[in-house]
Formats: sequence, structure tokens, C-alpha cells
Amino acid sequence: MSRILSAVAWPYANGPRHIGHVAGFGVPSDVFSRYMRMAGHDVLMVSGTDEHGTPILVEAEKQGTTPQALADTYNRVIAEDLTALGLTYDLFTRTTTRNHYAVVQEMFRTVHANGYMVEKTTMGAISPSTGRTLPDRYIEGTCPICGYDGARGDQCDNCGNQLDPIDLVNPRSRINGEKPKFVESTHFFLDLPAFAQALDAWLRTRKDWRPNVLNFSLNLIDDMRPRAMTRDIDWGIPVPLEGWESNPNKRLYVWFDAVIGYLSASIEWARRSGDDDAWRQWWNDPDALSYYFMGKDNITFHSQIWPAELLAYDGKGSRGGAPGPYGNLQLPTEVVSSEFLTMEGRKFASSRGIVIYVRDMLARYQPDALRYFIAVAGPENQDADFTWADFLRRTNDELVAGWGNLVNRTASMIHKNFGEIPAAGPLLEVDRAILDQSRAAFTTVGDLVGTHRHKAAIGEAMRVVQEANRYVSETEPWKLGADRERLGTVLNTAAQVVSDANTLLAPFLPHSAQKVHETLGGAGVFAPQPRLEEVTDLDDATRTYPVITGDYRDVPAWATSTLVPGTPVAKPTPVFTKLDDSIVEEELERYRTR
Ligand code: MF3
Ligand code: ZN
Repeated sequence: MSRILSAVAWPYANGPRHIGHVAGFGVPSDVFSRYMRMAGHDVLMVSGTDEHGTPILVEAEKQGTTPQALADTYNRVIAEDLTALGLTYDLFTRTTTRNHYAVVQEMFRTVHANGYMVEKTTMGAISPSTGRTLPDRYIEGTCPICGYDGARGDQCDNCGNQLDPIDLVNPRSRINGEKPKFVESTHFFLDLPAFAQALDAWLRTRKDWRPNVLNFSLNLIDDMRPRAMTRDIDWGIPVPLEGWESNPNKRLYVWFDAVIGYLSASIEWARRSGDDDAWRQWWNDPDALSYYFMGKDNITFHSQIWPAELLAYDGKGSRGGAPGPYGNLQLPTEVVSSEFLTMEGRKFASSRGIVIYVRDMLARYQPDALRYFIAVAGPENQDADFTWADFLRRTNDELVAGWGNLVNRTASMIHKNFGEIPAAGPLLEVDRAILDQSRAAFTTVGDLVGTHRHKAAIGEAMRVVQEANRYVSETEPWKLGADRERLGTVLNTAAQVVSDANTLLAPFLPHSAQKVHETLGGAGVFAPQPRLEEVTDLDDATRTYPVITGDYRDVPAWATSTLVPGTPVAKPTPVFTKLDDSIVEEELERYRTR
């Protein structure tokens, strides 16, 4: 048994999330966490909404509301959507809790005391029309290194180099297109070069990361510069130092804020569980494992900046130092990044209506249909495209006609002929072969999910389904009416394989897994679901907010579970809803007219 931290990227609370977001951080982290719990590990899965910084400010201004009111609205929307999708967070919280503020400020104080926060005066960009600071990500221009025109002030997505806004050729504001003005400003910089050696040594031990993530991260080591951890902005966490704390226009940067949420959410979870120190088992123990899930635009921050912050807190950079009260914090075991999802060949762009919100999708389709599409056709190792035609085909051919049909015909025949799980007589070769296959799949599928190869994993699980469908067609139980013993054996075998396949598919398709479990006469919770709960801020009795949490400890083992003959089986109802061909045109039309 291992302790496993599933650290899931924090979505900005500046709007509803679209299916590209949940394909990147959401479904992959949940499949992994559900599997690890079934495999007997002690998983802590945490995240929350990222509520500070420019994305929130810009949207609040647009809607004529305050940043906190905007964050309150979308925190709730996002938490509801992620719950409906069945993402099993132990705690999904927010960055505006008192607890998060306290943890971030403690991190800052210790990193500062260890000598890794360096004060420097540099040229910062402001908007000439509003006088406001323009954060790096809101400045666009031509990359001075590769010439790519869509480079951002913090990084060029084309060549991967880190940039300063002042380096950009022809810089312009992404908010209103104007040319930024550069003025002097004093900030705290995280002394990244002090960790170059430690980061390099650590990355070289990370042999089984996805090659693109590892190579990208190793390349960053060659160009490490101190990086500003504060911003000229009035919405965020104050810098906990004299002279800074009272300055309303200096706040900590997202990469010294939301990213610390993994730790603060773990601490909040522990405090809510009644054992304030429980989080330490995932953070201080060198044997604990930690997996970070995100889209590829976040790699730098998880494979370089966050590890550097952890090393800085631990006092493990070139200047030494000592950890603060949180003790030695462990570096990530793996940074699991996915690529991007496009929609009908185009990049998602909420502002131009090129978007499919999770909410709209779940209002019309089953959550498992979306989860299935993401697992089987998502952007795991390369960019992937969502098309409605493909969604229809995958749902109807694979889920409805493949898996749903197997469940349905097996349960119908059992119900009609026996009314309960029949006992098996002597097994023939054909029975043994299919049972062996489904049993062997536990190792194959489990290893694949554990190493983040979900496409291959669900492919193997669906192969068991295909083989089982073939088994039923070959053994023709509908012709065995006269031979009750053989009929019982075939239907017992088919039901057992359905049950095995259902366990194999449960991390991917938890809603239908519960239903299949019940279809075979099973009782109790098979695939647990998260719940939305209204809680009071632990350090501010006047404030309440929704969190996602749940009780996921009691799950079936990742192994075959022998069906008990005599268990009543009722007449089944379909597990999956067949989609009408017309939805493709309907959906395309909906997005065309936006
Ligand atoms: N909200 C930010 C983004 O979406 C950061 C998410 S990752 C975290 O880019 F590490 F900050 F949590
Ligand atoms: Zn470039």
C-alpha cells in the first residue's frame, strides 16, 4: 500500500469550464485516482478554483462585478460541473480561503528566510490607457528567439523558452491591443538559478515520465533566471513582510499562490478530517508518491517553479537553509501533462463561441459518454480533436452496441431463464478461455492506468467486452433451452465476465459501473461518487462555500469478484442511451449560431 497524492491543476474561476479543460486535468486524474484506490492505495486527491490574478479581474470588470463576487459565482458552477462528471476529489476547495492565505504566506516567509526571495527593481509593463499593470500572460508579441508571433510575455508556446515581456518584439496587450508602456517596479524574485543543480539532478532520476514532458523540463534548466513572484495588482494574497503587506498594489503571483494550493488543500482536508497533521503522510514521507495532472501550458510551473519552491522551503538550494513548520516537503513523483483538445478542428475560444461547456454537455448526454470519449480519444500524448460525429459513433457503436448490449443481453437471458445468477456446471475450454482473458486483463489494464496510458488501458478493457460478446454469439445460449446445466454454465460465465469487465471499466465509467453492478443483482456502493457540500471557512465563521468531497475508501478490489449463484437478477433496463444521428447537425448548428 502506498500513499498517493493526486494533485489536480486548479481551474481559474473566471468562467465555466469546457470539455478541453476536463480532458486535460479532470478525467485523467480521476481515472488514475479511482484505479489506485481499487488497487488498495491510500489516495488523497485535491484541487480547487484559482480565484486571484488578472484572469479574474479582467472578467469581473467585463461583467461589472467585483472579483470576489465573480469568483463566488464560478467557483460554484465549476464545483457543480466537476461533481456531475463524477470527479472524486477528497477536497476541491478555493484559493480565497483563510487557510490558503495562511499556508501561502508561511511558504513565503520560510522561502524568504532561507534567502531565495530576492528583491529587484525591473521594468514592468503597464497599460497606458488604464495605468494598470499588464501581467506577463496578457502581453503578446513576436518571440525574440524563434520569431513566432503569438508568444506571451511569460513564455513562448512555440519554442518553449521563458520570456520577459520586455523581450517581445512588437508587444501588445491581449486585453485591448494597445502597446504596453514599461516602467520601473520592485518585486520579489524566486532565485531559480540557485536550484539549477538540484532540479537537474532530480529530473535525471525521473526516468518514466512522458518523454515530451521530461525533455521539455530538462531543456528549461539551461535557461534559468530569477522569476518574479509578486505582481503590481490589487487582487491576490499580500506579501507577508513589513512594508509590503500594507501595500494594496503588491500581491503574490499565481505561481506562488494557486500552485501552493496542493499543499493548502491537503492541510484543509486534514483539518476537516479531525486530524490536523494527517496531510503529512502525503507530503513529508519520502515513500509517498505524488502525481500532478494538468494541460501542457502548465508544465513549466509544475516541473520547475513548484519543485524550486519546495526545495527553497526545504532549504535545499545552493544557499542552504532549513524547512519551516511544514517540514521537508517532497518533490513530485511525476508531472503528468496532457496535450490540447480541439473542437471540430479549431482551438477552443470561449470568446468566439468555439466551446463546449461541461455543463451543456452533461445536460444532454450521459457523463460516462463524455468520460469515455476523453479516455479513448482524448489528448493523452498528442493533440486530439473532438467532433460530434465521432462522439456519436463512439457512444453508439462502442458504449451502446458493444458494452451496453453485452450487459443487457446477458442480464436479460439470466432474468428470463433463471431469475437469478445460475450456478456453473463443468467448464468447457471455451468458458475457461474467456474467464482467463478477463482475469488476465486486471494486470494489463491496471499497469497501463498506473502509468497514465489510459487509451491503451480502456482499449484492453473493451477488448474483453468484444471477446465476451463473441463468446455469447458462439455459445448461443438462446439455443440451449433444453440443456439447463449447460445454459446455466454459459450464463454464469458470461455474467462473471461482465462483472470483471465492469470492474475494469469502473475507473473510466463510474456511473454506469454502479448501474451494471446493480443489474447483476449487486447491492451497495460499487463506484462511489463525489458530493457537493456547503462548509464554513475554518478560520472565518462568517463565510461558507461549496466543496467537493466524498467517501471513497470503501471500493471493490482491483480483482475478479466471484458472483454468488442465487443472487436475484431483475429485468434489465439499458445502461447507455443510444443517440440519434440528428444530434450531430443539431449540435453543429447550435455552435454555429452562437
Ligand atoms: N489556474 C492556472 C491555470 O489554469 C493554474 C493552474 S495550476 C496550479 O493555468 F498549479 F496553479 F494549480
Ligand atoms: Zn519562441
